[in-house]
Amino acid sequence: MKIPIINSKRQYETIAQKAEAAVLDVMRSGSYILGANNKEFEKEMCEYLDVKHAVTLNSGTDALHLALRALDIGEGDEVISTAFTFVATSESIGIVGAKPVFVDIDPDTFNIDASKIEAAITPKTKAIIPVHLYGQPCDMDIITDIAKRHNLFVIEDACQAIGAEYKGKKVGTIGDIGCFSFYPTKNLGTMGDGGLLTTNSQYLKDRVIALRNHGGAIRYHHDEIGVNSRLDEIQAAILRVKLPYIDSWNKARREHAAYYNELFSKCDLIETPKELDNTYCVYHQYTVKVPNRDKVHQMLADKGIGAMIYYPIPLHLQKVHAKYNFKEGMLPITEKNTKLVLSLPMFAEITKEEQEEVAKTLIECVKEVNSTVSV
Ligand SMILES: Cc1ncc(COP(=O)(O)O)c(C=O)c1O
Repeated sequence: MKIPIINSKRQYETIAQKAEAAVLDVMRSGSYILGANNKEFEKEMCEYLDVKHAVTLNSGTDALHLALRALDIGEGDEVISTAFTFVATSESIGIVGAKPVFVDIDPDTFNIDASKIEAAITPKTKAIIPVHLYGQPCDMDIITDIAKRHNLFVIEDACQAIGAEYKGKKVGTIGDIGCFSFYPTKNLGTMGDGGLLTTNSQYLKDRVIALRNHGGAIRYHHDEIGVNSRLDEIQAAILRVKLPYIDSWNKARREHAAYYNELFSKCDLIETPKELDNTYCVYHQYTVKVPNRDKVHQMLADKGIGAMIYYPIPLHLQKVHAKYNFKEGMLPITEKNTKLVLSLPMFAEITKEEQEEVAKTLIECVKEVNSTVSV
C-alpha cells in the first residue's frame, strides 16, 4: 500500500462542490484582488482566533518579514529565534537586514528552549520569534515575560499552528504579532500561496496594510518602500470555504496522533511526540525520533511510505547565513535532533488502516536497521 505524507486530493473531495462554486463566483464577479472575500475572511479570522486585527497577505514569509518591517526592525538589530524551523523564519530576519540569533531547542517539543533565551539577549536585541513547530505551542508565558522585562517584541511564527492553543488562547494572538501561512499543505491550506498577519494593535495593522500595498494606505500615495503582498480573491474564497472545517480537521489530526502513539507504544526504538501541559497541539506534523533515521527513511520510501525530514539542516549551518560564521556544535540539541526526526503521514482524512500500515512498516524497518547497524 502506498501512503503519502499528505493527501490533499482526498481533502479536496470533501469540499469540492463548495470550493468550485466559490471560485466560480469570484471569476464571475470581476473583483480579483483584495475584494469582498478578503475583507470577510479577515473578519472571520479575527473571530476564529479572537484577535482584533487580521491582514491577508501573499504568504507566511511575507507575514514574518512585514511584521519585522512594521516594528521598524532592520540593519544593526538582532532577532532571537530557533534554527530548527523552515528557512522562512530566519530568511525574514535577513530580508530586513537584521541578524538572526539562534537559541537551542527543547528536545521534547522541538521548540525554542525558553529557559535559554535570556542568555542570548544583547543591547541590539529587538524581538523574539518563537516558532510553534509542527503545530506544538511554545512556552509563551516564559517568552512573553522575558520580552516584557527586556522591552522586546514577540512575533509568533504560527505558520504551522493554526488553531493550536496555549492556556486556552489561540497561538498567533499572544505576542505583538502572529504570522500564518496558507501554503496548500498547511492545516488550513489554500490552492496557491497565502498568508495572514494578526495583531491587537491598530497602529501595526495600519502599517502592514500600507506595507502590503507598496507602502501607501491611500491609492497612489506612497510613504515608504513597501511590497506587493496582496492575497487574491480566489485564494480568499477557498479559505472561507475551508475555515469552518479547521477545528474538526485539527481534532481528527489529534485523534490520529493518539492512535499512532498507541501503535508505537510497544516499540522502544521509536520516540513519539510529547505535548506541553495546557496546550492544544494541532499536529501539522506527527514527528517521531528514530535511531539510524536516514536508513529507516530510505527503507520506508522503498516500501511506499511517504515520510519526510523536517528539517535536515539546521538554519545556523545553512549557506544563506554563512556570513555570520555560525559553527557546528553551537546548538547541540538542535543538531542532534535534525539527525533523528522523521515526520509520518498525517492528514485529517488518513484512515486507521493506513496508520496501521505506516506503524507496522516503520516498526519493521526500525527493528531491521537497528539490528544490523549499531545505534
Ligand atoms: C514555520 C514556518 N514559517 C514560515 C513559513 C513560510 O510560509 P509560506 O510558505 O506561506 O511563505 C512556513 C511555511 O512552510 C513555515 O513552516
